[in-house]
Amino acid sequence: MGNPQTIWFNHQKNSVETIDQRHLPFLNLIYEIGTLEEARFAITEMVVRGAPLIGVTAAYGMYLAASNFSGNDFQAEMQRAAEWLKSSRPTAVNLAFAVDEALSVISEQHTILQNTHHLLEYAESLKQREIEFSKQIGMYGLELIKVISEKKNREPVQILTHCNAGRLACVELGTATAPIYLAHEAGIPVHVWVDETRPRNQGARLTAWELGEAGIPHTVIPDNTGGHLMQHQMVDLVIVGSDRTTMNGDVANKIGTYLKALAAADNGVPFYVALPSTTIDWTINDGITEIPIEQRNASEVSMMEGKLGDEIYEFRILPEKSQVANYGFDVTPARLVTGLITERGICNANREGILSLFPEKGKK
Ligand code: MRU
Repeated sequence: MGNPQTIWFNHQKNSVETIDQRHLPFLNLIYEIGTLEEARFAITEMVVRGAPLIGVTAAYGMYLAASNFSGNDFQAEMQRAAEWLKSSRPTAVNLAFAVDEALSVISEQHTILQNTHHLLEYAESLKQREIEFSKQIGMYGLELIKVISEKKNREPVQILTHCNAGRLACVELGTATAPIYLAHEAGIPVHVWVDETRPRNQGARLTAWELGEAGIPHTVIPDNTGGHLMQHQMVDLVIVGSDRTTMNGDVANKIGTYLKALAAADNGVPFYVALPSTTIDWTINDGITEIPIEQRNASEVSMMEGKLGDEIYEFRILPEKSQVANYGFDVTPARLVTGLITERGICNANREGILSLFPEKGKK
């Protein structure tokens, strides 16, 4: 595997470089982000995607806004940049979190140059934090896999995941995939059922690609297959990521996650959500009424991209006149979540569980 990181700062060019996820698995291209506008474009067009990586990209975007500033009112311009970035994708709370934290490092007591420097330091530190969080999530999740592996006499542990909560969605290791990578590294046999994840196929295109790069056995399945597999004891564990988790433990994640949670509950399959605390929205409780659900362009549903020989084609798969709905995320109620795997440990998906790991958030 080349650079295991998905995003890095190029000091010579004063720009950020990232894997252009729009083209995987067919092409592995680097996308350069040198301005606030390019950072926002990268987020809206899903050059980068996945909650933690969106947050880190936004933090670099704030730095680039400062670095390229040439107007009169620095503070006002940074506020504008913050609002504009925040409006790029509404569901993943990591975006607002990173932008607000970036704003908080700006001080009127400092020169523009000093503030700019602090913003770069902040972006780099957030990136580092996400790397550490992924490692910790991996270590806690690994314990769950170990227990199942021992019960199965080291037959492969069958794990189902949805969308891409892998290293491509983060900086390294991922969230849902972090325990899987560590299990594989530790020689514990695992096999991953990868939901293709229509309409953008992040499972088929991205999760399958990154697991393949790491040599982890996996099988891509159409989104509707999970229930059948669970009924036939072919799934030991579901692990998914999250874009926003509420204080009550409700989890917003890629559309279709809820249906997997229902099937898991009906079949007694443990359903875990792996998330760093940067994905917890400490201000809300009810995911269904309070989490904004992004609706994306109809073309993501009506068009498909594929490879024929050496050429990549985009083609229409619906009748010309059919209407399309494209909700990007859904909310899995906490009652369907077996546990949350965070960087501080595994907890119940409820307020008490979350506060047992993050007691400082309970203080007024
Ligand atoms: O629309 P996307 O591809 O950004 O959605 C990504 C997901 O839903 C991931 O599962 C989530 O961000 C968790 S990433 C560790």
